[in-house]
Amino acid sequence: MSRENWTSSIGFILASAGSAIGLGNIWKFPYVAGQNGGGSFVLVYVLCVLLIGLPVMCSEMLIGRHTRRNVINAMGKVEHIANGSPVRFALSVLAAGMAVAFTLMEAWLMVGVALFAVWAFARRGFAAIGWVCTAVALAILSYYAVVGGWIVEYIWRAVTGGLAAHVPGAELSAEASQIAVESGKSFGAYIGDPWRVLIGFVVFMALTGAVILGGIRSGIERVSKILMPALFVLLLIVIVRSVTMPGAWEGVVFLLKPTSAGFTPKVVLMALGQAFFSLSLGMAITVTYGSYLHKDQNILRAAGWVGVLDTLAALLGGLAIFPAVFAVGLKPSSGPGLIFGALPATFAEMWGGAIWATCFFVMLLIAAVTSSASLLECGATVFIERFRRGHKRGSRRTAVLTGFVICTIMGLLTVFSTADWSHLPWLERGVRACMGSLTQGSWFDTLDNFASYWCLPFTALAITLLVGWVWTPRRAAPELLATGEGDTFPRWILLAWGLLVRWVAPIAIILVFLNSTGFLSL
Ligand code: PHE
Repeated sequence: MSRENWTSSIGFILASAGSAIGLGNIWKFPYVAGQNGGGSFVLVYVLCVLLIGLPVMCSEMLIGRHTRRNVINAMGKVEHIANGSPVRFALSVLAAGMAVAFTLMEAWLMVGVALFAVWAFARRGFAAIGWVCTAVALAILSYYAVVGGWIVEYIWRAVTGGLAAHVPGAELSAEASQIAVESGKSFGAYIGDPWRVLIGFVVFMALTGAVILGGIRSGIERVSKILMPALFVLLLIVIVRSVTMPGAWEGVVFLLKPTSAGFTPKVVLMALGQAFFSLSLGMAITVTYGSYLHKDQNILRAAGWVGVLDTLAALLGGLAIFPAVFAVGLKPSSGPGLIFGALPATFAEMWGGAIWATCFFVMLLIAAVTSSASLLECGATVFIERFRRGHKRGSRRTAVLTGFVICTIMGLLTVFSTADWSHLPWLERGVRACMGSLTQGSWFDTLDNFASYWCLPFTALAITLLVGWVWTPRRAAPELLATGEGDTFPRWILLAWGLLVRWVAPIAIILVFLNSTGFLSL
């Protein structure tokens, strides 16, 4: 059986953008920006996308297209293009450094994992990174699906009139503030009721499984084509209402104006992790998608488009949320519930609010499903090609089911412990004992924090080392330039890409790591 291919280059761009644009842009970006000072975070974020995210994205696409394998075999194959041993050694050293850092944080489970990684990198090289990527993708899906379930709940509320509505005659600013406070409370009560959260989670996981079983062409590609323009239009409509609320301008300033005090190393780490999360990098998704890409399609252009669309979606998401946050007097640093306080207030003040709210949450749900489908797809491709019997590939159904079951079990832990630990006290004890000072609030926060700010930068670093130092930009250039469309590139683009993957991206990531592990204080 031959592997499927994307039907066109636009199909590939749309599907990659479908993976990139999701809850990361509209739910996560605003609250992480809010917790990290707004404008300065946004500026650092955009720089991270340009200088680190895009070169890593090109590298992942290159690895995928060149090898046309699942991520584990792909990494191994690229490593054999040249002698990868020195870089393999560097990876083991990095993992050993991590083990020391985790010891200082008393995160004993992670010390064990890092020590195992030292051995695995030394023995299996980059194929081991492929496994790390797969594990991280499944871990992220487990809590991503819970947030997806929240969106399902909000669609239900919008349809059944469960969201607050405007009372004729009420004064806009007082009414909106009150609705925001109440919405925040009702969100808190909702996530404190795990049985209700469970319903949304199950629906979301079922949708994800269904898209994936449809195969890439019929599933993801078709959905992405309709979704993208609709989501952007709805965002613009919400922005118009949000910025015209009294006191909204302060929110625009907060989002777009950097302050000199805002540039701290922590902000850089957060922005870097958020950039990888939002662009779907470091999880081998782009490697997997790239492996379905035709030889005659233009990687630089595709990466450029995905980067631009994703960043635009995040900025529009910020612009839709922050003016309303300030207008209704919410705290920008309120965390994951931020949009569930601000959006209901905005919709209540719109003409036909319930209809807009329904359309918006439905679009957001579709955007989230195209992202979660890409996470499951990544796991599934690995399992399909790993569960071989002789020459026969494993069945897609079994592979999807395996990923599905792993994520559902992990997701249940998130469902039952997002608000507090009272339902699963043993989990709290376990997490504190295993994760030491890496523990952050709930299981959800701990997992998100560890995956986004530790694992993703680490796997992305490995990819830059693999492409920058083993394959090398010079040897990879023909693959990058292989386009059948008669495109030519100015030479500087190639030089810039080489410089960024070989030097700028790895050094920046290592510096950020050294700082967050406390080995270096910037
Ligand atoms: N990038 C997606 C988003 O912004 C989330 C995602 C993360 C998807 C990781 C795939 C992999 O919502």
